[in-house]
Amino acid sequence: MVLRPIPHHTMPTRKEIERALKMIAQKSGFGSHVHIEHVQLLGHGMHRVAFRVDLKVQPDPGHLSGQHVILYPYMEEAKAIQQRLRQEAKALSLLAQVNPIFRFPKLIDWVEIGDSVVMYERFVEGVPLDLRVGRCLVGHPWEVVGEIAARVHDLKDVGQKLNGFKTRREQALHDIEVLKTLGESTFMRAYDWCVEHLPEAGSPTTLLHGDLSGQNILVHPEGLIAPALIDWTFAVQGDPAHEMAIVTQGERRPFGVDHGHERLLEAYLDAGGMSIELHEIYLYELCLFGRRFQAAKNNKIRRTEDPNEPLRLAYNLLMKLGKKRFK
Ligand SMILES: Nc1ncnc2c1ncn2[C@@H]1O[C@H](COP(=O)(O)OP(=O)(O)O)[C@@H](O)[C@H]1O
Ligand SMILES: [Mg+2]
Repeated sequence: MVLRPIPHHTMPTRKEIERALKMIAQKSGFGSHVHIEHVQLLGHGMHRVAFRVDLKVQPDPGHLSGQHVILYPYMEEAKAIQQRLRQEAKALSLLAQVNPIFRFPKLIDWVEIGDSVVMYERFVEGVPLDLRVGRCLVGHPWEVVGEIAARVHDLKDVGQKLNGFKTRREQALHDIEVLKTLGESTFMRAYDWCVEHLPEAGSPTTLLHGDLSGQNILVHPEGLIAPALIDWTFAVQGDPAHEMAIVTQGERRPFGVDHGHERLLEAYLDAGGMSIELHEIYLYELCLFGRRFQAAKNNKIRRTEDPNEPLRLAYNLLMKLGKKRFK
């Protein structure tokens, strides 16, 4: 992993990290016999930086000693993601109550320092899943993702306690709105296509992880222990087809194979996932292109891509969809 600060992402100072650790130790009752043995930069996420902390607590009746992770938002992101991080803390606490079969970070505690929601959790072993076929260490990547998505989507009770949407159609209607606002005929046509391909009225939503990228799925290199899902910042009650679109990202050949969408959907359904149609994944892919276009237009200073790129991708996808017949 490349440990390089990202421009416009201001890291917390050492003092700030020490202060956060002290606050967490106090809040969660570690007592005064806590010794921080080692703090080491672990990785840069999209919104925050992670440090590994080796902690020794003596005496330790609550088994709090061990390898932990402190997640500290970049200064520029802190305010914007405050709500989402509170929701993540809630999701992690709820997961601990239901004991899912995949691994996830056990939340030890969290504190708010100014705008920053700082999380403190157990370190999770594993390496990020490479979603490209041939590079994936543990079998077919679409099977790993399909299976783990199905297990997350089993957890309907957890979803109901989070913010989000009651029905799948409700989310689709919400997400397609952006397409109308972009002032591009391609996105207007995408909107019209989506209106014709909405999920069935009344079909219920479930818990979504919301960011099933390879970086957030940690696997044991020999597949000996269950995969882990980290980074629950986008956890929401929502449409499972949206989860799938986050995986496929509108790529022409997800996982670097032909029929990647179909393979993912098949693996997900075989693993007992919810009933999703292929066109529902494409609907959310069009929305993702719309949001990328909007972000690229609005964010001229930190521009991550040329807005013409998502526009071109949306156009190509629409062309392909025009040739496909659904239902
Ligand atoms: N509990 C954990 N165990 C091991 N590594 C972690 C843990 N939490 C985060 N990381 C590492 O830190 C990186 C950033 O954390 P993440 O929660 O994904 O931040 P962001 O929300 O900004 O994407 C991850 O990609 C991973 O490498
Ligand atoms: Mg992440």
